[in-house]
Order: sequence, then structure tokens, then C-alpha cells
Amino acid sequence: MEILMTSLALATVLVLAVMIGTRGRPMKFIAAVGNTVALLAKNTAAVFWTGLIIFLVLGFLYFFYASPATSIGPVQPIPFSHRVHAGVKAIQCQFCHPYVGRSIHPGLPPVEKCLYCHNYIIANHPWIQKEHEYFNTQTPTPWKKVFYLPEHVLFNHERHIKKEIECTKCHGQIETMDRIRAKRFKMGFCVDCHKQKEANLGCWLACHS
Ligand code: HEC
Ligand code: HEC
Ligand code: HEC
Ligand code: HEC
Repeated sequence: MEILMTSLALATVLVLAVMIGTRGRPMKFIAAVGNTVALLAKNTAAVFWTGLIIFLVLGFLYFFYASPATSIGPVQPIPFSHRVHAGVKAIQCQFCHPYVGRSIHPGLPPVEKCLYCHNYIIANHPWIQKEHEYFNTQTPTPWKKVFYLPEHVLFNHERHIKKEIECTKCHGQIETMDRIRAKRFKMGFCVDCHKQKEANLGCWLACHS
């Protein structure tokens, strides 16, 4: 649907661009294309304006369609909302990510944990039905990973949680997000805090394998 709309919009806009670019005489443009580049060269003004308008419109469409997706994070198989669960319902982070303080893997909640509540809460909601499907077929929910570190970086939550560094320091205000936004961790970000807290700065011993 979105693709259809985009193509339609693009087509309309192309026609408009040609019309405006040739000041209402599209044949001039079409003929020019049909004939030779040499002819196009004679109509530099028309080519220039057409090009400029197409460029501006493509730019507009790009920002119009692309930016929301990048600012609210990837679509998940089930539209799980941290805002609803961790924010409105104030469920503790560690209820669902129990190993964050003691293992390399904080753990994403298995389906059973969702159903622990959702066998009773909005049990017939289509998204909860989908959870049941995953449960019945023993398929782990294919959550999309959001936060990445480059492969050569060693990171362990445990040491940080023991020093009582809040989740928000690194992940942002998760409890206000419906869909979690990714964030690129730059090395400066790790190093700044390590300096401030006088944590290990020995690069090869500490963070790089
Ligand atoms: C501790 C209880 C609890 C757990 C565990 C829990 N939920 Fe919920 N969930 C709720 C409550 C409470 C609501 C709000 C229901 C309402 O709006 O009436 C909710 C709402 C939802 C909704 C409705 C849409 C929305 O965002 O409002 C979805 C979908 C959902 N949960 C999915 C999940 C998934 C997937 C899991 C497992 C990762 C999960 N929940 C784990 C309590 C829980
Ligand atoms: C009811 C269960 C539940 C609670 C409570 C919860 N989470 Fe989550 N969390 C999930 C699920 C399910 C996912 C995977 C889907 C997603 O990314 O939205 C997830 C994903 C994440 C991720 C992204 C992991 C990645 O890289 O893919 C982070 C970070 C996170 N949670 C942090 C938190 C923090 C911080 C809190 C407390 C403020 C919290 N969570 C509370 C269930 C929960
Ligand atoms: C010092 C920074 C920092 C703090 C504090 C922090 N995290 Fe993370 N977290 C990260 C980084 C970096 C990653 C990505 C790790 C990777 O890709 O290996 C991550 C990944 C995750 C993931 C996804 C793991 C997976 O298996 O995909 C979850 C869930 C998570 N964090 C939850 C939490 C919770 C809950 C807290 C607070 C109790 C927290 N984090 C505190 C830096 C932090
Ligand atoms: C908000 C502050 C903060 C941020 C941000 C932070 N750290 Fe840390 N980190 C600490 C503190 C404090 C310690 C020391 C914990 C201790 O003494 O046990 C530490 C310890 C570590 C250690 C263990 C070092 C050792 O002595 O063996 C590693 C590895 C590490 N951090 C990696 C990272 C990486 C990678 C990042 C960036 C993704 C990061 N940290 C971001 C505060 C931070």
C-alpha cells in the first residue's frame, strides 16, 4: 500500500515537475529527451529546472517517509510497548531482564513470562493470541535486536549494574518508548564515563579483544 502511494505520488510529481520545468510545454522536454542530448543541451534552462524540482521533491519524499521509521525504532513481531509495561504499569526492568546484573546476557523475556500476565490480562487480544501461537509451536519470539556494539568490543552489564549505573545512562528513557530506538555507542561515550568514574581505561585489557 505504502509503495503504491509512493509510486503514485512520484509519478504525479514527475509530471508536475516536467510541466513546471518546461513552463507548461512538456512536449519540449519529451521531444528533447526523445531526440538528442544535443537538443537537451540547447534547453539547459528546462533541464535545469526540471532536475532541480525533481531533486527537491525526492528530498522531501525521503524525509517525509524515512525519518519517522529511523526515529522510533524497528517494527517488532509483536508491538510490545515499554511505555505501557515499564512506564504506565511500572513493571520493574529486572522482572523481564533478570540476568542483567549477573550475566553477559541480560535476557529477553520468554513467551511464558508474557503469558504469566496475559493469560488473565487482555487474553483475547490478537497480539496475545500471536504470543500463544509462539508458545504452542515452541518458537522463541523473533524480537529484532536494537542495540549493537561492534564485535571487537567487550561489554558486560554486570560490572555497571553493581556500580548502580542506571539503565537510562546508556539506553535512554526506555520507559517512555513504545518502540525502542537504537543508539550507536561511540567509543567516546564509554571513555568519557570511565574517566569520570575512574574506571578502567586500559583499552586492550578492558574493552577491546
Ligand atoms: C506483569 C504483567 C505483564 C507482563 C509480564 C507482560 N504484560 Fe503486556 N500488558 C500488561 C498490562 C497490565 C497491559 C495493559 C492492558 C490494558 O491496557 O488493559 C499490557 C498490555 C499489553 C499489550 C497491549 C498493547 C499495548 O501496548 O497496550 C500487548 C501487545 C502486550 N501487553 C504484550 C506483552 C508481551 C509481548 C509481553 C512479554 C514480553 C508482555 N506483554 C508481558 C501486563 C503485562
Ligand atoms: C514486561 C516485560 C518487560 C519489561 C518490564 C521491560 N522490558 Fe525491556 N524488553 C522486553 C522485550 C519483550 C524486549 C524485546 C522487544 C523490544 O525490543 O521492544 C525488550 C527489549 C529491551 C531492550 C533492547 C534490547 C535490544 O538491543 O534489542 C532494552 C535496552 C530494554 N528492553 C531495556 C529495558 C529497561 C531499561 C526496562 C525498564 C525501564 C525494561 N526493558 C523493562 C520486555 C520488557
Ligand atoms: C554502561 C552502559 C549500559 C547500562 C548502564 C545498561 N546497559 Fe543494557 N546494553 C548496553 C550495551 C552496550 C548493549 C549492547 C550489548 C551488545 O550488543 O552486546 C546493551 C544491551 C542490552 C539488552 C539487549 C541484550 C540482548 O541480548 O540483545 C538489554 C535487554 C539491556 N541492555 C537491558 C538493560 C537494563 C534492563 C539495564 C538497567 C538495569 C541496562 N541494560 C543497563 C549498555 C548498557
Ligand atoms: C555511565 C558510566 C559508564 C558508561 C557509559 C560505560 N561504563 Fe564501563 N564501567 C563503568 C564503571 C564505573 C566501571 C567500573 C566497575 C567496577 O569497578 O567494577 C566500568 C567497567 C567496565 C568494564 C570492566 C573493566 C575492568 O576493570 O575489567 C568494561 C569492559 C566496560 N566498563 C566497558 C564499557 C563499554 C564497552 C562501554 C560503552 C558501550 C562502557 N563501559 C560504558 C562506567 C561506565
